Amino acid sequence: MWDYTDKVMEHFHNPRNQGAITEKQEGEEIVTGEVGSIACGDALKLHLKIDEATKTIKDARFQTFGCASAIASSSALTELLKGRKVEEALKLTNKEIAESLGGLPEEKMHCSVMGQEALEAAIYTYKGIPLDNHEEDEGNLICRCFGVSDTKIKRIIRENNLTTAEQVTNYVKAGGGCSSCLPDIDDLLEEITTEKEKSIEVATTIATADRSSTAQTTKTLTNIQKITLIQQVIDREIRPVLAEDGGDLELFDIEGDLVKVILKGACNGCVSSTETLKIAIEATLKDRVLPTLTVESV
Ligand code: FES
Repeated sequence: MWDYTDKVMEHFHNPRNQGAITEKQEGEEIVTGEVGSIACGDALKLHLKIDEATKTIKDARFQTFGCASAIASSSALTELLKGRKVEEALKLTNKEIAESLGGLPEEKMHCSVMGQEALEAAIYTYKGIPLDNHEEDEGNLICRCFGVSDTKIKRIIRENNLTTAEQVTNYVKAGGGCSSCLPDIDDLLEEITTEKEKSIEVATTIATADRSSTAQTTKTLTNIQKITLIQQVIDREIRPVLAEDGGDLELFDIEGDLVKVILKGACNGCVSSTETLKIAIEATLKDRVLPTLTVESV
């Protein structure tokens, strides 16, 4: 028997917002996000009704096939979403879903991950971003038993500071079948550890070098160093500036020297977003990371 909190049990026995959303008024849009598969033991379909004018989630409902924690996580997720702006909802993490339930047993954390992924799938559909472009399963397949890619495993390791293969299994199931992928999961854990160490190295370099010499130094960055540095400059220098005007952005992907970002908040749909991109984002990244970088909004 799992050691569930009272809140998990309460949501399990009295789930909120079960079912689909089928009716909408003018000015409202209904989108769904679906993750998991019944073959894997858990599946979740999240339905959102969004007010077009205010970009606010007016209703959220779910249909799930899973255990008590899957039902409780889905129920709590719908409660967290109602009344939120779409851009705010996109920032919700699996950690917050679990925390809203007073925590989940580590072996059941994959239920909160499933909720966050269904939410992301629904919002990306709403924003018209092709799922193939952000589908984490497009990476290299690591776990064949559960169809989990390296991209997904690495994101979960980073977001939840995981350090063991057992934790990875608890969060995304990978490794929980035939076990043959466990050595690959260990490699990914090691890669992230190395990435963190490089990140500290790069941060030290930035702190000690002046701007002009930094631009010269970073020309020899490895891919991992480049990605880490771009993320750091975005988090430390660009996002605070955009936030002053209610804007935000998220790093979406990096292909060579092309940096793809998602504009959020006031930046999303802003008539001057192109200028914002070129001046506030691209110029900063050229200066702080590599002069050959270009930025594109997706
Ligand atoms: S391949 Fe991952 S558990 Fe079997």
